[in-house]
Amino acid sequence: MPVYNLRVNGHRHEVDVDADTPILWVLREHLDLVGTKFGCGIAQCGACTVHLDGTAIRSCSFPVSAVGDKQITTIEGLSKNGSHALQKAWLELDVPQCGYCQAGQIMNAAALLARNPNPTDDEITEAMDGNLCRCGTYLRIRAAIKKAAEEA
Ligand code: FES
Ligand code: FES
Repeated sequence: MPVYNLRVNGHRHEVDVDADTPILWVLREHLDLVGTKFGCGIAQCGACTVHLDGTAIRSCSFPVSAVGDKQITTIEGLSKNGSHALQKAWLELDVPQCGYCQAGQIMNAAALLARNPNPTDDEITEAMDGNLCRCGTYLRIRAAIKKAAEEA
């Protein structure tokens, strides 16, 4: 199997996996970064969202061979000590219910705020549309994104 030298959360990791292995499995099975969740496995729910050079991607459907030298950022690497404005807003507004979708929600929201620091309600809805939450925390998610935008 080929060896891939990946940049993940600011560190280099070598992994020996098939070229079509999804990043999600590299993160969870090889690097023990289990904050990123497996939901649908077919790019439909957003639970597996991570950043590739700052852009939100669905790691369940992104092969390791397509990463190259780009930086992968997971929920574990979003900030030191949970200090990202979104993580603080998430806690303050008590956003999660079961929590399963929330790492993906935060990573998608972080990519949104990085490209649009003051999104409107419609822009938030549009950007977050593909991140599903079976517990229905959507209103708190939107409120937390707005709070993070105000305080960033
Ligand atoms: S697990 Fe990747 S989008 Fe659902
Ligand atoms: S908090 Fe349960 S799926 Fe979103």
